[in-house]
Amino acid sequence: MPQSSGSTSSTKSIRRAPSELERSDSVTSQRFLGRRQSLIEDARKEREAAAAAAEAAEASEQIVFEEDDGRALLNIFFTLRNTKTPALSRTLKVFETFEAKIHHLETRPCPKLKDSLEGLEYFVRCELHLSDVSTLIGSLKRNAEDVKTTKEVKFHWFPKKIADLDKCHHLVTKFDPDLDQDHPVSNGGEPIPRVEYTEEEIGTWREVYLTLRDLYATHACSEHLEAFRLLEKHCGYSPDNIPQLEDVSCFLKEHTGFILRPVAGLLSARDFLASLAFRVFQCTQYIRHASSPMHSPEPDCVHELLGHVPMLADSTFAQFSQSLGLASLGASDEDIEKLSTLYWFTVEYGLCKQNGEVKAYGAGLLSSYGELVHSLSDEPEVREFDPDAAAVQPYQDQTYQPVYFISESFADAKEKFRRYVAGIKRPFSVRFDPYTTSIQVLDNPLKIQGGLECVKDELKMLADALSVLS
Ligand SMILES: [Fe+2]
Repeated sequence: MPQSSGSTSSTKSIRRAPSELERSDSVTSQRFLGRRQSLIEDARKEREAAAAAAEAAEASEQIVFEEDDGRALLNIFFTLRNTKTPALSRTLKVFETFEAKIHHLETRPCPKLKDSLEGLEYFVRCELHLSDVSTLIGSLKRNAEDVKTTKEVKFHWFPKKIADLDKCHHLVTKFDPDLDQDHPVSNGGEPIPRVEYTEEEIGTWREVYLTLRDLYATHACSEHLEAFRLLEKHCGYSPDNIPQLEDVSCFLKEHTGFILRPVAGLLSARDFLASLAFRVFQCTQYIRHASSPMHSPEPDCVHELLGHVPMLADSTFAQFSQSLGLASLGASDEDIEKLSTLYWFTVEYGLCKQNGEVKAYGAGLLSSYGELVHSLSDEPEVREFDPDAAAVQPYQDQTYQPVYFISESFADAKEKFRRYVAGIKRPFSVRFDPYTTSIQVLDNPLKIQGGLECVKDELKMLADALSVLS
């Protein structure tokens, strides 16, 4: 279990790494105003709450896969002895009574019995209404022996269509007086409302923009530099203008298919990660207070626009971000916490090697003068990126990170992450269909075959394209 070295003083919830901008003279003075808890902290709290709820509700342990319309999928094992009474037909009657739809039924010799003439062990996978689960299990126990459900695997509902992101309402509902409750929240289909920023807000933006832009040349990775150049040319990035999220979203859509979705910053870790699976980045639209231009205790649009947006314009990084999202769908609360930690040490605080030099690609670094300088100094420990280690690495949300992870390249990070994801316990894989912007759950060979046909068509098309050139 990851250990959090984060603050315990804060009780407020936010969803991602906060942005913290300190001047270089503060690197040594450590004038931190106190970051609030991170995505990881949110994930840890969600896992603990879920564990407590599961303990309280015994029946919930039997639910294998909860669908959004109140139906559940169950894996059930039981043993039936061959007796004079027709045990099998009576047992099947139980499923009929509860209108349980049987997806799969198989038998195997029971290790407890001498041979199959004495009886068999049964495995049934069925779908039924959530409210009938406990009663069905109780009825089965009256007819069969050793009734067991696969309670060790339990999956969470997850969005399968982009419109389902609207159903992700596991919002952190604590009132936070520092947050503007009137921030516009898009439903994903409408243009993002344009914001008229005040002169004071533009002044804040200008100060941060000019301070960081000078540092990027030596500290930012080449992907960030290239995207930043394009954003200045085409998307209104300048010291005198705070770019509008709608324009930035259209820019990203053209480059990598990512879109921005404005939120007030209250999503749970699970919901935030899920949106990445659809190439949707949940984004704040307000700007930090003018009294503290170089510091924001929570993500604001300076952090999003300077840190995250340029990186999301890179195709390999975009794919890596989406992989994190896809890995989170249906994952256990423990895995969500690990993925949040991985997000922290890559998307927020990741370093990479480029032409023999260390560069920053994490948004938490690229939006923080002080930490950007610190991360490339001799002070912190820099370790080779290893997802297994990074997923449980204690993080720091009150001061600069003492440990960073460095990747050989985004492609290398992506491949290492792919291997890590293969170890996450889920009896299915998921695949994003870009044509329907939906998630396919690959839980049977037919669906996988369908996916393979699509890949074969693509390969043929590419092979034909190659032959035209040769
Ligand atoms: Fe962030």
